Amino acid sequence: MKILVTGGTGYIGSHTCVELIKNKHEVVIVDNLYNSSIAVLDRIEMISGVKPKFYQVDILDREALEAVFKDNKFDACIHFAGYKAVGESCEIPLTYYKNNISGSINLYELMRKYHVDNLVFSSSATVYGDDFEVPFKEEYGLGTTTNPYGSTKKMNEMILTDLAKADKDFSTVLLRYFNPIGAHESGLIGEVPNGIPNNLVPYIAQTASGQRDFLRVWGNDYDTVDGTGVRDYIHVVDLAKAHVLAIEYAYKNKGSEVINIGTGKGYSVLEVLHAYEKACGHEIPYKIMDRRPGDIATCYADTEKASKLLGFKAEYDINKMCEDSYRFTSLNPDGIK
Ligand code: NAD
Ligand code: UD1
Repeated sequence: MKILVTGGTGYIGSHTCVELIKNKHEVVIVDNLYNSSIAVLDRIEMISGVKPKFYQVDILDREALEAVFKDNKFDACIHFAGYKAVGESCEIPLTYYKNNISGSINLYELMRKYHVDNLVFSSSATVYGDDFEVPFKEEYGLGTTTNPYGSTKKMNEMILTDLAKADKDFSTVLLRYFNPIGAHESGLIGEVPNGIPNNLVPYIAQTASGQRDFLRVWGNDYDTVDGTGVRDYIHVVDLAKAHVLAIEYAYKNKGSEVINIGTGKGYSVLEVLHAYEKACGHEIPYKIMDRRPGDIATCYADTEKASKLLGFKAEYDINKMCEDSYRFTSLNPDGIK
């Protein structure tokens, strides 16, 4: 397939491009480089042997985006482009709604105009909110989101589900990611946080390398194995492989499907910290703090639907996730240049 990948130079997008190329798909990337570097294209080539065609285009720029559709006959699209910082989305909600909703609608309208019928969308476990019992099952539907970022994911899910109902040629798979971490094992691509990281593993990585003094553990009084929050961490390469299966599924089946992508197993903050200590070979300082507002105790996926529909099963464990994250951070202390 010839696949348009929006946000393809970003963290999950770059790993997905590598897996798509490995599976003989042709990749065309659209990214405005707001949160990624052009050098990622060379890194993708170093790993896969192919440098994807690239357009530096903002999906909010309808004319420029349309020019990409005129230039190329796509079979499918994987849509990663968007803003993703939860805290920032509370401070500048309109910027988030504009980019993640208006930008996405531009893309969906052009997909319909140019008869690109198959889409995979990056959703998030955040759409379950704190309304349901673990493991989170797709059939629970949408919960109450707690921040504008989460609401943009929920709204995109609603828009795409309605679109697939109205337009019988259109097919979409909405992937609800749990917590993607890790990096490609080459150490060439990985997550480059923008400023002080909010997410656990990027913060641990910077603490391990001495850029931060200590990890702040947000609460140790939850009803979990050791009192710290439990999440379903998934290796980004496993997640990337799930996208290949999902876009191939969308191509063969009409309608819309929501699918969790996680491992089905939860790890506590301290368990992740200790796995990272093993990976980097030294202790990582931490302090227990109050709970972070908006956090839930435990979150992990029911993975049965991913297994049944896509034949997907995550392969890598928490140790491999931490080893690959550490390798990438050590090899690229200043990001991807
Ligand atoms: P990322 O920031 O690394 O990648 C997103 C890419 O989109 C970046 O390269 C950025 O430059 C680009 N982009 C942003 N706005 C754009 C615009 N208007 N036009 C063109 N390009 C634009 O993020 P990621 O971690 O790779 O996440 C990819 C997607 O997955 C996002 O939609 C994110 O919300 C979603 N997601 C991420 C996580 C996670 O933990 N990383 C979890 C759940 C869902
Ligand atoms: C967060 C977002 C979620 C988003 C996801 C991926 C919130 C409430 N949720 O999920 O919407 O989809 O990131 O971007 O922000 N922790 C610490 N110290 C830290 C950082 C985190 O103890 O410095 C703990 C948290 O309390 C949590 C766990 O580590 O228990 C994971 O946190 P994080 O990586 O931020 O992911 P989520 O909160 O699950």
